[in-house]
Amino acid sequence: MHILLLGSGGREHAFAWRISQSPLCTRLFIAPGNAGTMACGTNVSLDPVDFASVKSFCLSEEIGMVVVGPEEPLVRGIYDFFKSDPQLWEIPVIGPSREAAQLEGSKAFAKAFMTRHGIPTASYREFDNNNYTEGVDYLQRHATPIVLKADGLAAGKGVIIAQNHVEAMAEFELMIQQSKFGEAGHKVVVEEFLTGVELSMFVLTDGKGYLLFPEAKDYKRIGEGDTGLNTGGMGAVSPVPFADSAFMEKVRTRIIDPTIQGLQQEGLDYKGFIFFGLISVGGEPYVIEYNCRMGDPETEVVLPRIKNDLVALFKAVAQGRLQDHQIDIDPRAAATVMLVSGGYPGNYEKGYEISGLDILNEDDVLVFHAGTQLANGRVVTHGGRVLAVTAYGGNITEAVKRSLKIIEFIEFEGMYFRSDIGYEFR
Ligand code: AMP
Ligand code: GLY
Repeated sequence: MHILLLGSGGREHAFAWRISQSPLCTRLFIAPGNAGTMACGTNVSLDPVDFASVKSFCLSEEIGMVVVGPEEPLVRGIYDFFKSDPQLWEIPVIGPSREAAQLEGSKAFAKAFMTRHGIPTASYREFDNNNYTEGVDYLQRHATPIVLKADGLAAGKGVIIAQNHVEAMAEFELMIQQSKFGEAGHKVVVEEFLTGVELSMFVLTDGKGYLLFPEAKDYKRIGEGDTGLNTGGMGAVSPVPFADSAFMEKVRTRIIDPTIQGLQQEGLDYKGFIFFGLISVGGEPYVIEYNCRMGDPETEVVLPRIKNDLVALFKAVAQGRLQDHQIDIDPRAAATVMLVSGGYPGNYEKGYEISGLDILNEDDVLVFHAGTQLANGRVVTHGGRVLAVTAYGGNITEAVKRSLKIIEFIEFEGMYFRSDIGYEFR
């Protein structure tokens, strides 16, 4: 089968690596991909949200399955686009329908869904221009810190944790009246601040049953010890030691099962990954957010811990036969450390040559490209997050140590990384 994978980050390189190992995959195309995905298949210069071009490519290359990495094509309805086109409807798209992708695409939709199905999450109210003064009043009376979330997609920047009322009020006005996040912030979810430890859980569902993938924890802040600005993710580890069987049982019965049942009851078509961003408050799990895709950089530790044929699982998802499969997890721990461009998450330069990639040929190490490009035969930096260096180990300490050892061989101008990934578990 010919497979088209949409996306260009470290997550997509990890997907491309696993998909290309499947005997079911005879050709893999990655659109647009990066310098790393070229080793797993053919990069195609296609914009994943240009559905008309995706369509012509699928027809000309006889694509038999489309795997969607990032959220944007899903939230914009790529699943429905395929389903409603007689030339495309037989090509399965791994991902939810447009309506179901609202779990990520609209915070207000996700909160209302959780409320309808009794899924534990922070208490909240939603406001827009119509009840603006009520919102100001609500913020003034509410304890701080308080969380403000732009309703729509805001490139991962739409969540503000306001430490005091002045900040909360200013952000509220900026979002609703000054269009700080454009249309996405014209509606704001105001939410109680929860204190606890976060982790990410992932399931692959065919809309009826699901497979639970290994959990992971990502490190979002730029600085050591979780300080400084938020980033797309500076590293991740899997497993997460506090996710023991008692905690997982609560997650399954209170969160995952009601979510899958809720989707079914409401007739929301979902054949893909659900990412549960969770927080454990004194051992009790709450949902911070849903995403309609896998996480990045979590995928770079989750997929290495899966021994299944990923394409066989995707086929089962498309056929509604996921119940015939079980997840086969590698007992080793995995850690990934992100190498980023100097200046990230602020301004940074691109185009620096990356050295040291050629010597890497070790069993227990995987270097996933995130923001890289091939220019005149050389691999150069092409984004804020450049490489995700994943290693296995008997435990998290060993895995991180191994990843850091490999990083010593890699170099590019301005390279920065956190050496404390997984610090709480080491
Ligand atoms: P998101 O963009 O939804 O991933 O949110 C970004 C981050 O904000 C999350 O990973 C949490 O660390 C934090 N956050 C979001 N909602 C809450 C909340 N209700 N309480 C505490 N932290 C939160
Ligand atoms: N690592 C968080 C995300 O992918 O949204």
